[in-house]
Order: sequence, then C-alpha cells, then structure tokens
Amino acid sequence: MCGIVGYIGSRQAAPIILDGLARLEYRGYDSAGMAIFDGEHIRMKKAVGRLKVLENLTHGGETMKGCMGIGHTRWATHGAPSDINSHPHLNTSETIAVVHNGIIENYIPLKKKLTDKGYTFASETDTEVLAHLLDYYYKGNPLEAITKVLHRVEGSYALGILFAEHPDEIYAVRKDSPLIVGSSDDGCFIASDVPAILKYTRTVYYVDNQEVVKLGKDSLQFFSVDQEEITKEPVTIDWDANAAEKAGYEHFMLKEIYEQPKAINDTISPRLQGDNVVIDELHMTDGELAAVKRLYIVACGSAYHVGVTGKYVIETLARIPVEVDVASEFRYRDPIMDENSMVIVISQSGETADTLAALRESRSRGAKVLGIVNVVGSSIAREADACLYTWAGPEIAVATTKAYSAQLAALYMLAIKLALANETIDSARAAGLIKDLRTLPDQIELLLGQKEKIQRFANRYVGAKDIFFIGRGIDYAISLEGSLKLKEISYVHSEAYAAGELKHGTISLIEDGTLVVAVSTQPKLYQKTISNIVEVKARGAFVMAVTNEENKAMEKASDYCVYLPETDPCFANSLAIIPLQLFGYYVAVGKGCDVDKPRNLAKSVTVE
Ligand code: AGP
Repeated sequence: MCGIVGYIGSRQAAPIILDGLARLEYRGYDSAGMAIFDGEHIRMKKAVGRLKVLENLTHGGETMKGCMGIGHTRWATHGAPSDINSHPHLNTSETIAVVHNGIIENYIPLKKKLTDKGYTFASETDTEVLAHLLDYYYKGNPLEAITKVLHRVEGSYALGILFAEHPDEIYAVRKDSPLIVGSSDDGCFIASDVPAILKYTRTVYYVDNQEVVKLGKDSLQFFSVDQEEITKEPVTIDWDANAAEKAGYEHFMLKEIYEQPKAINDTISPRLQGDNVVIDELHMTDGELAAVKRLYIVACGSAYHVGVTGKYVIETLARIPVEVDVASEFRYRDPIMDENSMVIVISQSGETADTLAALRESRSRGAKVLGIVNVVGSSIAREADACLYTWAGPEIAVATTKAYSAQLAALYMLAIKLALANETIDSARAAGLIKDLRTLPDQIELLLGQKEKIQRFANRYVGAKDIFFIGRGIDYAISLEGSLKLKEISYVHSEAYAAGELKHGTISLIEDGTLVVAVSTQPKLYQKTISNIVEVKARGAFVMAVTNEENKAMEKASDYCVYLPETDPCFANSLAIIPLQLFGYYVAVGKGCDVDKPRNLAKSVTVE
C-alpha cells in the first residue's frame, strides 16, 4: 500500500521526507513524489519508478528548499503507474497539495460533479478528486474545508495536506488507512507507519478514524470530523526499525494473513452496491456475459487453486461449463475455444511468464481475456481485454495469503454477476450471497482469534515427514492450497487428494500417526468425507478436521476439529483456508524456516 511522510519544523523538509519514504519501501510501490512549500509556492516533483528516481531528480532533496512538505510512495490502485498519476496531487491553482493512501470509493460521481463545476483533471486517480474538492470548499479555513470534504467522500484514506496560504501548518486525516503523527525538538511528522520517523522520534500518536490533525513546527492539535478539539495520549515506540516494518508481526506472511479481512473488504466494497454487483472494469453488458458459453480459468500455483474453487462456484451458480488449467499446460494443449469463450487469467504479480503466455495464446485464438490481478499496471493487467483488480495491497511474503483471498472474493463477485446475467439465480439468492460475502471479513477476524490453538497443534507436527490434505468438491480445492502453503514454507512433504480418490493407491502411504487434514465444508458431502476419514483412521492416521460448526458428527469421527462459522457453501474456501494458512505458517516457524523467503522460490516467476 502507499506510503506517506510529512514534516514541518526547523530543518529542511525534503531530505527528511526522502529518508522516511525510503524506510517505507517495504510496503511496495511503483512511483514517488514530494510537495514542499518554498516560502512562496508549493513546489512539486514526482516520478514513476523507484525512490532513487525522485532522489536523483531533486539531488537528494537539495533542490527543493523549504521546512514544510509532504511525500508519497504510490501503490497504484486507480490509474496505472505514471508520472502524472503519482502523488502529490494539486488543485488547479497549485495552492493545495494532497497525498493519499487508500481508496475513494465514490470518486467517479464526485469527479463528475466537479467536472460539471468546471474543474479539470490531469490524472486517472481517485486521489485527485480530493485536491479539487478541498479547493471547492476552501474559503480560507483549512480545517473547515477538510471536514466538509470528509462528509462527502466514502472509502478509506490517510491524507497529508498542504495549503500554500497556511505555510505554518500541515494537516493529516485518517479513515481506515493507517496514519501516525509524531513530534520532536526539530518539528512534527506525519507517517503511514512507524519506521519512517523512528530515526527522529519515538513519541508518536496513532490517528484514529475521522480524526484531523493540525501540525505546527512545535505543536500538534487533534480535531474530530465536527471540528471539536480532542486530546490524545502519545505512545512511546520501543520497537526496532526492522520489527516496525512488520508492524510488530514476526513475519510479513503473518502480517498479510491478518490483513486478509481488509484485503477482501477493499476488493468487494467498491463493487457491491446494495444488492447488486457492479464490475465496471468488465466492460461487458449482461447480454455479453450471458453470451459466454464456456469459461477457462488459467493460472499458476495458488492462483490456480483459486481457479479450481472458481470452477465449483461459477458452475454451481451460473451453470456455465468451466475448465481450469495450470498455465504451463494450457498453452501447449491446443485449447478448443471460440468467440463465445472467455478466459480468466489470475495472477497476484501480473508478471508470471506462464500465465502471461497463456493470456497471449488465448487472445490469438479469439477468446476474450479477463485478468484478475493485484499489481496495477502489470503486464497481465495491461494485456488482458479487461482487468478486475484485487486491492490487497503489496504482498511481500513469497507465500500468498491476502492476494489469494482477494482473488477468491473477486471470483465470487464474477460468479454472482454471471449467474444473474444467465438468470440461473434470482435477486433474492443474489442478495443472500452478497450478504454472506460482506460478512466474510468479520468471520475471518474471528478465525484469526484461534491462532494460539492452531499454533499449539502445529508444534506437534514440526517433525512430520508426510502430511495429507483431503476433501471433496470445493474442499478438494481448499486442500490443494492448504497443502501448498504447508510445503512451500516448511519443506514438509504434503499432498492434496480428492478424498474419494485416496483409496485408489495413495492410501498405501498412510501409516501410524500420519496426519491427514480433512476439509469438510459442503453439507451434502459431510457423510462421504467422514467415510474417507474412517478409511484413513483404520490405517493409523491422525485426522485434523476443518468443518462447519453444524457438522457435529465430525467431532466423533476425527481426532482434532477446527470449526468454521456459517457461510454460503460457495464461500467456504475463504474461511477454511485461514486455519490451514496458520497451520502451515506455525509448522514452518517451528522448524526455523525462512518463512517470508522460502528456499528455491521467487515471489514472481517470470521465467517459463
Ligand atoms: C503461492 O504461495 C506461491 N508463491 C505461488 O504458487 C504463486 O501463487 C504462483 O507462482 C503464481 O504467482 P502469481 O499469482 O503472481 O501469478
């Protein structure tokens, strides 16, 4: 996600801002910029690319004189990475500058209203709306203008704002996206995260939702969205810089496991309007969606596992045949497709060579290609006919978790939209699905509360040699991902098997004490999976079950049970994967593995 740094005080602002942004690089970004007040005007420099580009452009900040400024590293959501889409964004008269982390969900209607009032926009971003809206409401009082804007915008935001007519103040605002402010003998700071300012101060204030902070050279004032002054207690940071980058988590992977509720919420909220799914990025009418007679889902690794789940969900809801392929196989099997075929390619990085090649192969055969991608402006995002972005933010750990969950959510929305276009579900069913979809983030929060319980169980399997994951239907897709998560970070051999298939050979590997993880979230298959559990237990297996709270029979059938809250069977994957991610994580931690950077692996496999 984006990084924000601001400074006002007795020292030159630009070098402090550059230093702070460098300490936020771990957050992932594709461009950077700064706005500094030079005593008369707001001067701005911004550029796509690494922070080094901005440093070279400003000679390490030397060419941007001034003691008050804001800076930003952008993780693109709306508008591809480019100089013009980089932050800060200015109003037309260049008297207001704003940097933003988050998503303005209603930026399109606001942009239209401002355009109708004569405002012109330079960028494709949602953020630029804020600069012009501040201009619209500013009548000399920054706090008044800011609070009026806050009453108009929807979504998530952490903001740093400069007003040229108020050179002794900087403003910070927060809703949902993280933001802190700090004070030192040399001045006051804004930052997205602690590492950016730890070099200058360990006295920080965590800005809460809908709070506005007015920073002076040696003062901090906090206001509510109704302009009432409030008091806040400072926090003294005792972390070291490295720990702070992970926000106190031991690994990025655990941090990203815990970011899944937000990743899902950020991905679905802008696209769920009442009881409707609105995916403008598809650029397809319901008629065009209904004309799709065959779907292919093509991806690699965990993204492929999302596709396996997607097959079950789309076929169940939309009754369209779905073929799922690993990209490296798809491109060489001479796939049969025509103009009524649609190919969905799924990729966190948007740069996976096999998936990109499958995209090109599909387009060469006349199929329409939809990308489900996390990195804005990546190759797959750019070459697909349409792109449905997941807004999980940058994923640092090699083992994907939050992007995987956001991809699932994107596919659920697509499945609902296809089903409505094909009239295979009615509006009441759609409303029920959307209600369950909206509930997933809170339910995941609940499951994350079982962390210690899972950790204790995982510690028992640190020495395991083989662990099997079994499931039927969607539960098989979940097993595939649970097995991959475990083996890629803990190096414990693991296999996922369709539960009914185990007895056709592989069951010979089951011996006394072998751990079998049985996933059972589909009510119509509960009993079938219990039969498979009986089979493996008869051969000495120890069975961990992941199942719904209603499935009481599982308590007796298995040796250890993790229960899931109730959701639509189509969405069970999003819940069942949480204990499996935690299990794999804690086995790896118990073995002392390099969880964030497992051996032999890369975050993005850009070679065939
Ligand atoms: C998942 O934990 C792995 N890191 C890997 O399987 C990954 O999902 C696969 O390489 C696809 O990457 P992509 O989503 O960036 O295309």
